[in-house]
Amino acid sequence: MTNTALIVGAGSGLSASLARLLTKEGFTVALAARQIDKLSALTQEIGAVSFAADASKPDDVNRLFQQVEEKLGVPEVVIYNPSWRVRGSLIELDPADVAKTLEIT
Ligand SMILES: NC(=O)c1ccc[n+]([C@@H]2O[C@H](COP(=O)([O-])OP(=O)(O)OC[C@H]3O[C@@H](n4cnc5c(N)ncnc54)[C@H](OP(=O)(O)O)[C@@H]3O)[C@@H](O)[C@H]2O)c1
Repeated sequence: MTNTALIVGAGSGLSASLARLLTKEGFTVALAARQIDKLSALTQEIGAVSFAADASKPDDVNRLFQQVEEKLGVPEVVIYNPSWRVRGSLIELDPADVAKTLEIT
């Protein structure tokens, strides 16, 4: 058993609050996003480790879990946080946008 928590889709909102909370609870937190530069302040603040990954790409997700396991052990907690959505009348939505919603969210 490890004390590792992985947050996929890390940024400055809900995910950052959860990362701080998990750190207070004794977890070592792994943060994953497509652009990890923006996570540097948070990683320093809470002693987290960041990983670049696109959650909509299966190869990225497999690599992410391998890297987290190698560096921090198998995560006990995984939070899936990214989302992307379109709003509008069903008959007017672009099918590509709907597919993206399903892939990411
Ligand atoms: N129920 C509610 O009332 C409510 C209200 C607000 C938010 N939410 C939900 O809470 C979650 C967090 O929202 P938030 O605005 O606070 O976001 P956040 O925690 O600030 O960050 C979300 C992060 O997800 C990352 N992301 C987006 N697409 C990704 C992908 N394909 N692969 C990997 N990472 C990806 C983005 O970074 P990159 O662009 O660098 O990848 C972004 O920084 C969302 O799921 C949102 O729908 C719910």
